Amino acid sequence: MKKQKILVIGAGGQLGSELTQGLWKLHGKENVIATDIKDPEGVLATGNFEILDVMKENEFLEFVKKNGFTQLYHLAAVLSATGEKNPKFAWQLNMDGLIRVLDAAVNYKIEKVYWPSSIAAFGPTTPKIKTPQDTIMDPTTIYGISKQAGELWCNWYHKNRGLDVRSLRYPGLIGYKTKPGGGTTDYAVDIFFKALTDKKFECFLSADTYLPMMYMDDAVKATLDLMEAPAEKINERGSYNISAMSFCPAEIAAEIKKHIPEFEITYKPDFRQAIADSWPRSINDSTARIDWGWEPQFDLAAMTEDILKNLPVLMHEQAMI
Ligand code: SER
Repeated sequence: MKKQKILVIGAGGQLGSELTQGLWKLHGKENVIATDIKDPEGVLATGNFEILDVMKENEFLEFVKKNGFTQLYHLAAVLSATGEKNPKFAWQLNMDGLIRVLDAAVNYKIEKVYWPSSIAAFGPTTPKIKTPQDTIMDPTTIYGISKQAGELWCNWYHKNRGLDVRSLRYPGLIGYKTKPGGGTTDYAVDIFFKALTDKKFECFLSADTYLPMMYMDDAVKATLDLMEAPAEKINERGSYNISAMSFCPAEIAAEIKKHIPEFEITYKPDFRQAIADSWPRSINDSTARIDWGWEPQFDLAAMTEDILKNLPVLMHEQAMI
């Protein structure tokens, strides 16, 4: 395998911190520069880390120019719920940041770029069950609008500038190594922390709100599989549907109860309910399966077991620091 030099922007986030570790394993720690706007926490601090803000144009371009990267992962974004509170900032970061990255990739001859899209790019009139790859997209959040527009920008850069840019429409991502980051699907992250500390959880979505979800290990695998696939297998240059499981708050609570019998969930839906109601309930990812062999490994039971085995250890370690 040709030696790569990889830049990760937004490496401190929920996805970034775990994807960076996946990239370390694949390409070697010394070949991956993780960046974010604030100092790294935990394991990221043990790697190559630099402060970098994609919104500071000159500094960003200087950094890219001097390092000669072959791959770039652009993960810095404001998520759905936070974005509704500050829509203009969300648009600037999510959209201007992406276009700056795509331009820099063309100008400095970066071979491959990764950018995440989301189920938030769909909307209320999108078919909700087994949502197809190509369908109606009418997002209602600024985050979703930025993802839909971003997909079109990626496709445009591929067609008109020859850029090898690749993307996945992530479902809700569930990991336990970072705290929830302002997403509507993040109740399914917070619930594990609260189950362990308080044995109870108040959910901001109603009991029967089904959403497509994915365990972080599968998200990292999907991303690396997509980026390692030969370019001729990537027929979709907007973004690929990918899916692993769908569940509602009542189902994840019942699964947690199997491990922590005294756990109780209550429901108090807020403004995030309308966001969740506008998104698909399940996703058809057959195009990704056919094009580059996508296959998930974790269902709800396997994910819950893994998190409830590992999170207490992590919480104990962090309490000791
Ligand atoms: N997890 C994201 C959110 O809830 C959706 O991509 O905002």
